[in-house]
Amino acid sequence: MNVAVIAYRAGRLTVLDQTRLPGASVAVELDGLEAVEVAIRTLQVRGAPLIGITAAYGVCVALREAGKPPAAPVALRICREAIKRLAGTRPTAVNLFWALERMTRVVERHGVGTPGGTPDGRPGLLPALEAEAAAIHEETRVQDAAMAVHGSALIPAGAKVITHCNTGPLATGCGGTALGVLIAAHRKHGNDGGIHVLVDETRPRWQGAHLTTWELKTLGVPHTLICDNAAAMMMRLETIHSVWVGADRIAANGDTANKIGTYSLAVNARHHGVSFYVTAPSSTVDLTLADGAGIPIEHRDPAEVSAPGGRAIAPPGTPASNPAFDVTPAELITAIVTERGVHRGPVYDLRRDLG
Ligand code: MRU
Repeated sequence: MNVAVIAYRAGRLTVLDQTRLPGASVAVELDGLEAVEVAIRTLQVRGAPLIGITAAYGVCVALREAGKPPAAPVALRICREAIKRLAGTRPTAVNLFWALERMTRVVERHGVGTPGGTPDGRPGLLPALEAEAAAIHEETRVQDAAMAVHGSALIPAGAKVITHCNTGPLATGCGGTALGVLIAAHRKHGNDGGIHVLVDETRPRWQGAHLTTWELKTLGVPHTLICDNAAAMMMRLETIHSVWVGADRIAANGDTANKIGTYSLAVNARHHGVSFYVTAPSSTVDLTLADGAGIPIEHRDPAEVSAPGGRAIAPPGTPASNPAFDVTPAELITAIVTERGVHRGPVYDLRRDLG
């Protein structure tokens, strides 16, 4: 990939505009809080870990936007307001709230009257926020690398696997989660049978078709694009080793929210005796939720379904529903791979494993 998925240099945040892929690799600068909000809402940046990283840098962008170093109370107000607005961009991926919580702790540590706080907001608060955002980014890199090692150990040479949505470098700004595992397996087995990835197109926003195939092509990983609704037949007629997906939020019992269509893939995998793996960093695990019933599901514009890419595919006025995520019950998940290792199901206690 020639253009960085996300970069924050000299106080300037640039991202690869994922809505332009696979046609064009265009970097856009997010030069203010509103630009960051729009980028997250419109999926210019997307994928749970990348949303968190972008929001963390977004707080820094908001403070820089204020121009000359503002006085401490103003700086704090700007940051608190930015965090509130960024938290309203997308509801399901918990990495967003996890990252904003870390930024909040930095802001409040520098609060007026707090021992050790800086009186003028800058220098002090801004470098501290920038360091925290960079730390979140760097931790993601390390976690992605660890998940790739743990997960790829589960994939034998010659395996044909299915993946859904996009969980590669585009989704994390680093190595990727589920797709990072598959890329690592490809590198490991390249000379002894390799692996082959069946890529669900992932209606309605086609993250599989637009993004995952682009990444796999760029990296030279053998793959085939399939319609979402072809996966069951593939499991029946071909030897599918396993299904690999990422996650947007995992409850303490292992129930997993991920891109719409993941649940039916898991049901089909169980029916056909195919292993179903979820790969996600611990920042995607929401230990405050006992199970998946409490996971907020984002409902996006119905026009994404009835007029994808702006082209109507149904009669005008056709009602459409567009839940962006679904929840796969833990009992359908063979194992959850985090940076800490492989957590095997069908019963999970992630409070014990990760708490
Ligand atoms: O709507 P998106 O494109 O942000 O949805 C992304 C997914 O559902 C991914 O599978 C998930 O975030 C895991 S990415 C590492």
